[in-house]
Amino acid sequence: MRKLVPKDAKDLYEIRKTSFEDFWSEKEFVAMLADKSFFGFREDHGFILCRRTLDCIDIVTFCVAPSYRNKGIGKKLLLEVINFAKETQSKVFLEVAEKNYTARNLYQSLGFKKTSVRKNYYKFSGGFQDAVVMMWSPT
Ligand SMILES: CC(C)(COP(=O)(O)OP(=O)(O)OC[C@H]1O[C@@H](n2cnc3c(N)ncnc32)[C@H](O)[C@@H]1OP(=O)(O)O)[C@@H](O)C(=O)NCCC(=O)NCCS
Repeated sequence: MRKLVPKDAKDLYEIRKTSFEDFWSEKEFVAMLADKSFFGFREDHGFILCRRTLDCIDIVTFCVAPSYRNKGIGKKLLLEVINFAKETQSKVFLEVAEKNYTARNLYQSLGFKKTSVRKNYYKFSGGFQDAVVMMWSPT
């Protein structure tokens, strides 16, 4: 486990491609990692990218490549963000597709609570899906 640095952009682009339908270019990762408000953590085959503004942390994107899932990597990455949120007394926010039960279970098991729903937030090949907004709070 280590902190993300600008030279990780290509790896993040490659890992994300394996996990999501929507396309984020390598250039977008270069721009985000050059911006001081973005931070995150990575393992060889998974990463979590966040953005911090004052006392709020938004999880921007989070994934583990398919062959490496279910081995505890996702949980480790998320715990790293939660530890940082505890240290900085920040809240953590995220959006997750309503039917993404794997991710929702993981978030719930680590103390995230559902705060609202954004209708038709995601457009997948199979149609639109609502986003569940979740929050973790240090208090
Ligand atoms: C969500 C994701 C990052 C989880 O990563 P992972 O490394 O597989 O997760 P872990 O192995 O750490 O699993 C942690 C917990 O997730 C849950 N979980 C994992 N796989 C699961 C499955 N197939 N079904 C139900 N729950 C599951 C369990 O609660 C597990 O806790 P446990 O180990 O105490 O049983 C990964 O599945 C992924 O990249 N998915 C595609 C991208 C994505 O959906 N990202 C999140 C968008 S909001």
